[in-house]
Amino acid sequence: MDQQIEVLRAEALAEIGAVTDRASLDAARVRFLGKSGAVTSLSEGMRNVAKDDRPRFGKLLNDLRQAVSTALEAREIRLLEESDAAAVSSLDLTLPGTFAQSGTLHPLTQLMNRAVMCFRRMGFAIADGPDIETEWHCFDALNTPPDHPARNEQDTFYLPDGRLLRSHTSTVQIRVMENTPPPVRIIAPGAAYRRDEVDATHLAQFTQMEGLYVAEDVSLADLKGTLEFFFRELFGPGTELQFRPHFFPFTEPSYEIDIRAEALGNQWMELAGCGMVDPAVFEAVCERRGDRVYDPETVTGFAFGFGLDRLAMNLAKIPDIRMLVENDLRFLKQF
Ligand code: DAH
Repeated sequence: MDQQIEVLRAEALAEIGAVTDRASLDAARVRFLGKSGAVTSLSEGMRNVAKDDRPRFGKLLNDLRQAVSTALEAREIRLLEESDAAAVSSLDLTLPGTFAQSGTLHPLTQLMNRAVMCFRRMGFAIADGPDIETEWHCFDALNTPPDHPARNEQDTFYLPDGRLLRSHTSTVQIRVMENTPPPVRIIAPGAAYRRDEVDATHLAQFTQMEGLYVAEDVSLADLKGTLEFFFRELFGPGTELQFRPHFFPFTEPSYEIDIRAEALGNQWMELAGCGMVDPAVFEAVCERRGDRVYDPETVTGFAFGFGLDRLAMNLAKIPDIRMLVENDLRFLKQF
């Protein structure tokens, strides 16, 4: 019996060790440990063993069963490892992965955000108005008479009902004052439209930023200080500004601002319009509101407006304004 056990152990371990797939492993399990397996039938032989020898054989048989189980388990793990390794053997884990591409903000949006943050620090709130406007908000209320060239049908897009696409964001000045009593201190970034022939420097839709500050004693010095601070924040402390007298219907006096900055290529650029809000604008607002809170005898204010497209172009050295709207990834990925 001792010898039988030894032979069976050697046979079982050898066979299990040589198994190379799952099915043969299961077959080996049945062959040795199954109900009519070799180990089981050997156990049945215990009946013929002398009573005194039974405990010793029982222990030997138990050891055998244990050894076969352990060998089966070890082999099973090994087979699993091998099949896992085979499954990934064609993968090169050292290859670079697939990157999720994250986008960036459009250069125009980046500039707008910077401008907005700067004005917010000075206490300006963001105001908004519709792109489709009435003639009154776009022109009449802004002291722009019907015979003014800006009102020419060729200059602006008119809708059949007489409304138009706003030709500047100055409309938001009127919208804000109509709805809010002074003091008001707002900026209004947004789209403006003109019937321009599209070329490298013109689009029919462009982006402007309007500003308005109305209170009881707003002065020209406030206007100058605010815009100087703003443009130096945006383009660096060495930025030079020049306020050149000009004419706008809705401000008096009015100025154009020229600016020279390292970041803009160190050449003088005509950049913005500004001035002190014309009393006629306040009168138009008072009439619409039906009260006198914007009486030009009690409030003063300054306004300014500038285009963001040309600024963004100069900052990022973009040669053609159309690149801003073509959505070409080769262009956009550079920002
Ligand atoms: N609306 C003017 C334009 O589109 C820009 C402008 C000039 C706005 C002077 C103002 C201003 O508020 O005071 O050219």
